[in-house]
Amino acid sequence: MRLVLLGPPGAGKGTLANLLKETLGLAHISTGDMLREEIKNNTALGQEAKRFIETGKLVPDELVTRLIRQKISVDPQVKRGYLLDGFPRNKQQAEDLDKILEQIQQPLDYVMYLEATLPVISARLTGRRVCKRCGALFHIKNKPPKKEGVCDRCSGPVYQRPDDKEETIKTRLDVYLKDTAPIIDYYKKQGKLKKLDADQSAEVVQDVLMKILNEEGKHHNS
Ligand code: AP5
Repeated sequence: MRLVLLGPPGAGKGTLANLLKETLGLAHISTGDMLREEIKNNTALGQEAKRFIETGKLVPDELVTRLIRQKISVDPQVKRGYLLDGFPRNKQQAEDLDKILEQIQQPLDYVMYLEATLPVISARLTGRRVCKRCGALFHIKNKPPKKEGVCDRCSGPVYQRPDDKEETIKTRLDVYLKDTAPIIDYYKKQGKLKKLDADQSAEVVQDVLMKILNEEGKHHNS
């Protein structure tokens, strides 16, 4: 099964993908994580992407689409299906994705739109903390690490993403509304969009999503 998780920054795409990848046996493909990995490894692509990410702007389509094309068409780990998190992010990327998937004859099944309200998004982003080593997600209020600054899972250092500062969050939300929100309609027209209330707890959102898949006759590992 091939799913896109679409929604504003902080809607809980990464959190939901972490829950679903186990339940559904799917790969989790996050362009944000892939780009942060490129930055960490100081690759040419990472160097190019850094200034866009740190200021909350979109990394040029060509760079991100190249990463995705490689992942989707070449990586054997995604053969059984995947959850796309953070891609596509504008109409151009959505069209490019359709072309790539058409070439390999593997269309998307659904686009899960995580709808969240502004106060919820702001509280989630300003409170988010991430493990630098394994990427585990925390939140200072909802899900603090047991020991401050230390990851529960791997004991790595827990930090605040540089783009989770208030000023950058504002730019990311503006970019979302201008560039990303229009693709909701793009997928609605394709009949692939399913809307979820993402203000609820991650477990409730997961349950609702699983119910949708069951109603659509999609079995867990298909
Ligand atoms: P990316 O990493 O994709 O960031 P984003 O889309 O802004 O999404 P976030 O990771 O901020 O939020 P999320 O929805 O995954 O929420 P999370 O689950 O972490 O992209 C970063 C940057 O990379 C972009 O700005 C851009 O520069 C670049 N980029 C990436 N993809 C690109 C592309 N395709 N094209 C161009 N540029 C691209 O949750 C947030 C917090 O809330 C956590 O603390 C979590 O514990 C908590 N939480 C989550 N869900 C719940 C819930 N249901 N209840 C309570 N708490 C919750």
